[in-house]
Formats: sequence, structure tokens, C-alpha cells
Amino acid sequence: MYVLNLIGFPLRLLLPLLASYCEHRPPHTMPRRARNFFIKLTYFFKQFFDPSRRAVDSNGAAPQPCMSAPKQPPIPLSTHATALLSQPATTAPPSLPLVLPAPTTPAPAPRDVEPTIIAPISASSRSPAPVPPPTSTSDSLPPTPSSQPRHFYAREMFHNAQGIIISNSQFIDASHAGSGLERLLKFSMPDAFHDSGARYPPPKCHLGTRNEYIDLITNWALEKSNRKEPILWMHGPFGVGKSAVAQSCAEALESIDKLAATLFFSRSNGDRDDPRRVFTSIAYQIATKCPSFGEIISRRMTEHPALATKSLSKQFEDLLVQPLGQVDIPGSGLEGCVVIIDGLDECRGTAEQCEMIKIIAASVDKHTTPFRWFITSRPEDPIVRTMNSSTISPVCSRVELPVSRAIDHEILVYLTDEFKLIRKDHGFPESWPSEEVLALLVERGAGLWIYVGTIVRFIKDENSLGPEDQLRIVLEFAKDVSGKIGPDNPLAEMDFFYTLIMQRVPPKVRTTVQKILLVHSVLSDDPSYVATALRLSADQLRRACSSIQSVMELQGSDLNSMEIQFYHTSFLDFMKDPQRSKDLCIYSDFLIRCRRELLVWLHEVCSRSTDSEHIVFPLGTVLPEGLSSANHYANVVAWFWGLCEVPEHPLDSQTATSLAELPFKKMLGLLGDHGELGIYDGQARDNLPAEFRDKIIREGRCPIPGCMNTGKVWILGHGENETVPRQWETLGFELENNQGLRNGKCICGAQIRRGRRPISARIARVAQFLLNTLP
Ligand SMILES: *[C@@H]1O[C@H](CO)[C@@H](O)[C@H](O)[C@H]1NC(C)=O
Ligand SMILES: *[C@@H]1O[C@H](CO)[C@@H](O)[C@H](O)[C@H]1NC(C)=O
Ligand SMILES: [Zn+2]
Repeated sequence: MYVLNLIGFPLRLLLPLLASYCEHRPPHTMPRRARNFFIKLTYFFKQFFDPSRRAVDSNGAAPQPCMSAPKQPPIPLSTHATALLSQPATTAPPSLPLVLPAPTTPAPAPRDVEPTIIAPISASSRSPAPVPPPTSTSDSLPPTPSSQPRHFYAREMFHNAQGIIISNSQFIDASHAGSGLERLLKFSMPDAFHDSGARYPPPKCHLGTRNEYIDLITNWALEKSNRKEPILWMHGPFGVGKSAVAQSCAEALESIDKLAATLFFSRSNGDRDDPRRVFTSIAYQIATKCPSFGEIISRRMTEHPALATKSLSKQFEDLLVQPLGQVDIPGSGLEGCVVIIDGLDECRGTAEQCEMIKIIAASVDKHTTPFRWFITSRPEDPIVRTMNSSTISPVCSRVELPVSRAIDHEILVYLTDEFKLIRKDHGFPESWPSEEVLALLVERGAGLWIYVGTIVRFIKDENSLGPEDQLRIVLEFAKDVSGKIGPDNPLAEMDFFYTLIMQRVPPKVRTTVQKILLVHSVLSDDPSYVATALRLSADQLRRACSSIQSVMELQGSDLNSMEIQFYHTSFLDFMKDPQRSKDLCIYSDFLIRCRRELLVWLHEVCSRSTDSEHIVFPLGTVLPEGLSSANHYANVVAWFWGLCEVPEHPLDSQTATSLAELPFKKMLGLLGDHGELGIYDGQARDNLPAEFRDKIIREGRCPIPGCMNTGKVWILGHGENETVPRQWETLGFELENNQGLRNGKCICGAQIRRGRRPISARIARVAQFLLNTLP
């Protein structure tokens, strides 16, 4: 202490002066006596004076390799919880045999890539060009939307995103992009275009149905009706066929060259719900339609590659208004062309939905764009309020698409056609089904297309004793449900039907199905990720999915080409809403059980494993051939985070207690170099009970010694288990191996103090100075 006081004080004052002097006398040229003194002094000050070390010692966060992680067995949950977890009926893990082939390992992402040059992969990797519209349209009901794997976005696009898990393989480097248009396409949602391959075959109006609405809309578009407003909003409940009407209108308008752009939002299918890609998608489609606009926009995108990541209003201004200002509108053919935005309520974020309406309304009001806008949505409150507002209602005409018994005859035509096909396939007599049965089904459908379509798929279900038996189940169901809810309540009846579908799945398979739906909802809708997270083979995945084939479809033969498609968003909505799906719900209790199950598993893996090359799973974890432990482990870590981030479903305190004791440092250390990435934006923290937040995830000064970061970084865990994950700017962090420094940088991305020697070296200089000046 004495020395510290004696030398510490002059050191601080003298240091700047001494620095240049000492440069000429590096330690190895010192006389022996001085060198010994130097060594001692260095040791002394390392012990007592190094501020970075002190900081670390105080919270035990020295960055060491994870092999030194605690060896104690985990104490994940109380015995009560563990008992709960092992109850077979509701908590059993997937019971399909766990032997499977390998999904391919995703290619590693480019490291250290700056945010601005990371572009989101677009669906274009699978369906690069829009597919020409289908020619045969007559028998395309029921709706068969399709899906692409969910895609993920550049770092800058995450500000408002919630709980996004991304995979390395999903990134591409936009610097490889050719023209500005390609760049724009990468920021678009081509799967959501009316003629996309992903939506093929698109839901369309059964021949002759909904004609009055299609006429109404095309007449409005061509300004042949008394609806003069430049925005037309069609609203109606789910399943009445809004998308089918919009699709039919798109094709009708396209055939007369009056279609500017289309966007069909879908919450449950792939990446078709991103508000930040709406105006880019529209600009892209207009660019392909109008070459002069295309040239301008291509140049702009090349000069300002980040344009596509700006705020919605800036995007609208820079990608549409300004370029259009330079185009000869009358000569371009764009005047009065229609932009169709279908299912606005399925766009992510109610604030964004409303903002979009306001931006569009302001534009038509000021005539900054030459288009007419056709928007469809469910009558959700925020949208209705926005449409009702005094600035918007004058420019917006509205039309309701009701659940209508007026289409009963159309539904009858549809059913008759479908049953004719079934009869042909199975060699049933002409008399099957009876006219009474057809009439009853029309009655039950009560004008709700999606319901009728689901019933037909249910009857056709190959996983059954055959159509006759399935029809019998439907008729029993109809009798039963009409006693419960009465006639003409198709929306409620739809829920009962979804319940029936789920209840008919054998209990063991049902748990797997629920998990598939859960992974699909929180992690990725790419079947290969679903399969690796759940340790399912392609065949097991296919069998599980086929048990609910009336609501979803799994296309493709192997995991890499497979795609999961839902016929209608309402099914996932149903499964996520505990009020509607009750004990079948994939959130609520099921979510809690899955979190606990995974947490127990993670605790056990951490306590059994030594490093990323030697991951040891709990007994009974059978990995399919070809699937590496590291890959599966990474997927489970990502999946667990996804589960913690489900909005509006906070963690219970028991789970949080166990999570707080998770050895985070070791957990990340076990991840290989090309695991999944998780991006955190605060949702997981918000989901924690307040008293656990700082123990599990917090923002604070980087505790790594020598780190020059003055800002806040995300820190996981506390005490001995604390660790700093690789940071993503201020947006979040990555769930991947965080060991070691890169290019002299701290794990948080900041510089590690370098060049300037640590304080002990400075002291040595003082010492040398003092020695040299001794007589
Ligand atoms: C919106 O306006 C319609 C009539 O234009 C009205 O019936 C409805 O109640 C209004 N809704 C809201 C939420 O203001
Ligand atoms: C760190 O992790 C181990 C292993 O799970 C656990 O036993 C210990 O309690 C944790 N430490 C803290 C401070 O939570
Ligand atoms: Zn740091």
C-alpha cells in the first residue's frame, strides 16, 4: 500500500511526460538490476492496480475457455417440476422413433460483415422469378396458399422484430448483388406476389363465385363506378375468401394491363409478413413493369444500398414518390394502375399496418403517386379506427365481404365437383353422398369457404379408413356441434372443427404435431430446422404432418426440398390462442412444459459435456445418423431461446429460477462455429419475471478486461456463469461460440486496448525513469 501511494500518484502525473522518454529504453535493454525491479513492480501492480482486472475479479467474469465451467450437476427445477415434466400423458417427448437421416449443415455465414452489406436472403433463392399466372383457374378452390421457409433480415431490419432466430445459412452478402434491381429484390417479398411460385396454386374464386365483388372492384379500378376514392378497402372475417377475390381481381386487372403491383400477406406462411419489405416489393414490381422507372430505381439502389432498410415513410418517398417524379407518367402507362395489398391484418405489427395506410392515404391525397390502392383485411380494430379517421375516410371507399348465404349455391357446386372426384377415385356409386348430406354440408358451411374447404380435405384424408368413414365423422360432428352453437355461426364452428381434427390425431403423435407447430411458429418454418430441433427424420416429419393434412401440407421428398404449407392462417391462429384451442394450444401450458423440458436438457448437456467437440447428451437422446451433436445442440439452444421470446407468454418463476442457474458461459462455449444464430431484441428479457431479469440477461458495460467499449453490451447470466455473447450492434446478440478474440477485437466488437501497454508497463517506465535518475 505504501508503494502504491508513493508511486501511484506521481505515475499519473508523470506518465505523459515519461512516455516518449521510455520509448528509447525498452525493458530488454535495461540493466539487470532495473529489470528485476521492473518484474517485481509489474507483479505488484498486476495484483493491486490493474483496473480491468479488478473489475473482472469483482464479478468473476474473466473470459476463460468454457472447459473450466462448473462441474456441479445442475439443479434445474424443483422435484415437483421434474415430476410434472415426466408425466407421460401430456408431457411426453415426441414418441415417434428417433432414428433419422441428417439434414445438411447450413453453410457458415460470413463473419465480421458490416451490417449494411448483409442483405436478407430473399425467397429468390428458391423461386427467383415470378411464375406466370396459372392458366386453368376453374377448379382452384379451396385455397391452397403455399409457403417458403421463413427468411431473415439484415441487422438493421431487426429494430422492431421480435424473437427472431436466424440461421447462418440465411445470410448472403449483398455486395455480390449485381444491379440495383437485384438488390431491391433481395429486400422484397417475391413469395407474396400474386403470381409467385410459392403461392401456386393461389386461392382463387371458384368458377363463377363472388363475381359481383370482382366486378365491383374492377369497375372501381377503371373508374367506371360511382366510387371515386383512390383507395378501396374490402373487409370481412377470416375465411370468406378475401384473398380469392383479390387474386381474381389481380388476374383480371393484369390482363388489361392495369395492375401495378400486388402483395399477399400471410402470417403463417414463410416470410410474407414483413412491413419493411412492402414498399420495396411494390417498387420492384413497378420497376419490372415500367423500364424507365426500373432504371431510376436501379441507379438509386446502387448508389444508396441502404435505402431499402429505412423507415417506412422514407422508403415510400425514396423508392416510389421520388423516382415516379422523374418518370413520364402519362407515357408510362402507370396512371391509374392498381396496387393490391391483401390481408393487411396479417402484416407484422399493428402500428406498421396503420402507418402504411396513413402513408398511402397521404400520397393519394397529395397525388404523389399515380396509383389506385385496393386493400383487404379483417376488420381488426386498429385498422378500422385508422380507416375511420378524418384524414383517411374521405379518400377511402369501403366494401364488406360478409359471410354470406348468398353463395350457398356456389358452395354446392364446389362440393358436388369435389365429391364427383372422390367417387371416381374410390369407385363409389352415383348416389354417394345423398342430396340431403350435400345440403347439410352447405348448411354447416354457412358461407364460410375455408370451412367447406377444410371439410372436403378432411373427407379426402388418406390417413383414415376412407372417405365414407370420414364423412360419417363430419356428419356426427355437425349434429353434435349444432346442438352446442346453433346454426349460422360458422366462425365458431370452424374452431370446433379444428378441435376435431387435432383430437383425432393419436395422443403420442399429437405431441409431436404440437411441437412441429411450435417450432414452426417460433424458430423457423424450414422443415429441416424443425426436424433437427425435434430429432425427426424426413419420414417421421412427413407422417406427423400428414395426420393434420386437412389443414396443412408438407410438400417435397427430402428435408432440404420440403416445405410446410398451411391452407389458412386461421389454423395457426387457433392453435396459438388458448381461449380457442384450450388444451390443444401450442402456447400456454404446452409452451411452459416445452421450455422446462428443454431447460432440463440444456442443464444436463452442459454438465455432461466438456467442449464443443465432445457434447454429451442425456441418456435416451438418440441422434439420427449424419446429424452432428453440435448441430442438434445448436438448434436446441436456438429453439429454447425462441420459446423464451414468445410475446405475451412470460416465463413462470420456476422456469426463470432454473434459467438463472444455467451455466451460460459454458452453454455458449459448447456451440460450434456454425451453429444457429439468435437475435435478441429485448423480448426474452421482457418475458422474465422482474426479479430475474438482471440475473439472466442485461445490458451493461463490457466486463472483458482491456475492452475499450464505453457503451452497453448484452450480458448473459450472472456470477461465475456470466458471459458476453457476440454482439450485434445495439440490436441484440448472437447465440454462438463466443470464445476467443477476433482480430484483436473483444467479443463485443470493440477494440481491445492495444498499442498502449497495460498499466503495469507504464509503471515499469516510471520505474525505469526513477532508476535512471538515481545517482
Ligand atoms: C367506423 O365507422 C363506421 C361507419 O363508417 C362505424 O360503423 C364504426 O363503428 C366505426 N368504427 C370505429 C372503431 O370507429
Ligand atoms: C452457474 O451454473 C451452475 C451449473 O448450472 C449452477 O450450479 C450455479 O448455481 C450457477 N451459478 C450461479 C451464480 O447461478
Ligand atoms: Zn468488450
